[in-house]
Amino acid sequence: MAIEKHHVKSKLAVAYQLIHTPEVSGHIPETELLRESAFHRMIKKYDAIYLKPDQGRKSRGVFRIEKLKNNEFQLRSGTSTTYVHSKDLWNKVKSKTEGSRYIIQRAIDSVTKDGRHFDLRCHSLRVNGKWKVGGICGRLGEKGSIVTTSHYGGTPILLDTLFTKHLKYTNKEKTEMKRRLERCVVKSVRHVSRMYPSLKEFAVDIGIDRRKRIWIFEVNIEPLIRGNFKMLPDLTLYRKIKRLRKIAK
Ligand SMILES: Nc1ncnc2c1ncn2[C@@H]1O[C@H](COP(=O)(O)OP(=O)(O)OP(=O)(O)O)[C@@H](O)[C@H]1O
Ligand SMILES: [Mg+2]
Repeated sequence: MAIEKHHVKSKLAVAYQLIHTPEVSGHIPETELLRESAFHRMIKKYDAIYLKPDQGRKSRGVFRIEKLKNNEFQLRSGTSTTYVHSKDLWNKVKSKTEGSRYIIQRAIDSVTKDGRHFDLRCHSLRVNGKWKVGGICGRLGEKGSIVTTSHYGGTPILLDTLFTKHLKYTNKEKTEMKRRLERCVVKSVRHVSRMYPSLKEFAVDIGIDRRKRIWIFEVNIEPLIRGNFKMLPDLTLYRKIKRLRKIAK
C-alpha cells in the first residue's frame, strides 16, 4: 500500500497501515476490500459485519449484515432493514454497493447496557511536535440505529456520562479506560501521521466491546468538531480543541 497518498482519504489504506503496526494491530477489527471472496470468508467467520464506502463520511452508505437462523441474513442501513436468504446475499450486496469502492469490516459489539450502539470520537493534535489527545467524547446512536452520528439521530455525549450512566463503569474502571484510550489514540495517530506527514490533527473513532476491548473503527484525516464536541452540554473540550488548533498551526 502506497504510503505517499497525502490527503487521499482511504479507510482501507489507514486500516492496513495499522494492521501492520504491531503496537496497535490488536485494536483493528479485521478489514478488507469488499470482493466476493473476502465477503464470503468474512460472513462465514463472523456473526455480523459492516460494509462502508472506502472514502465515506457521516455514515453515508454504511450497512450492517447480521447472521440469523436458517440461512437468513438481516441487512440494515441508516433507514431500512431487509431480510435476505444466503443464496441471494452476495447479489444483494453487489447491487447495494455498486459504483463505490467498499470495505468490509468485522462488526464490534460496542453497545450500552440497554443495547444502543455507541462509539468514541477521540480528537488528537500535534502540538510542538508531540501528538496529544485534545478531547474524547461519546456518540450514542439512536435506539435501533446501527450508526452513531448526529446526522442519523445520534447524540454526542460527555465521556463521563457515557461511562457512568450507560456503561455503569466504576470510578476505577473509568480512570483505567481513559488511560488506555489515550495511549491507544496517541500510538495510532503517530503511525497514521507517517502516511499524512503534513496533517496536524486526526480523530480516531473507537468502539469498546462488552469485554472492554478497544477497537478502532477508523481514523479521520480531516476531523470536524461541529457535529460532536460543539454539541456537548459542556463546551470545555470544544474550546480546548480550538485553542490547541491555534497553537498547532
Ligand atoms: N466495525 C464496526 N463495528 C461496529 N460498528 C461500526 C463498525 N464500523 C463502523 N461502525 C459504526 O458505523 C458508523 C460509521 O462508521 P465510520 O466511522 O467508519 O464511517 P463514517 O462514514 O466516517 O461515519 P462518521 O462520520 O459518523 O464517523 C459509526 O457510527 C460506528 O459507530
Ligand atoms: Mg467515522
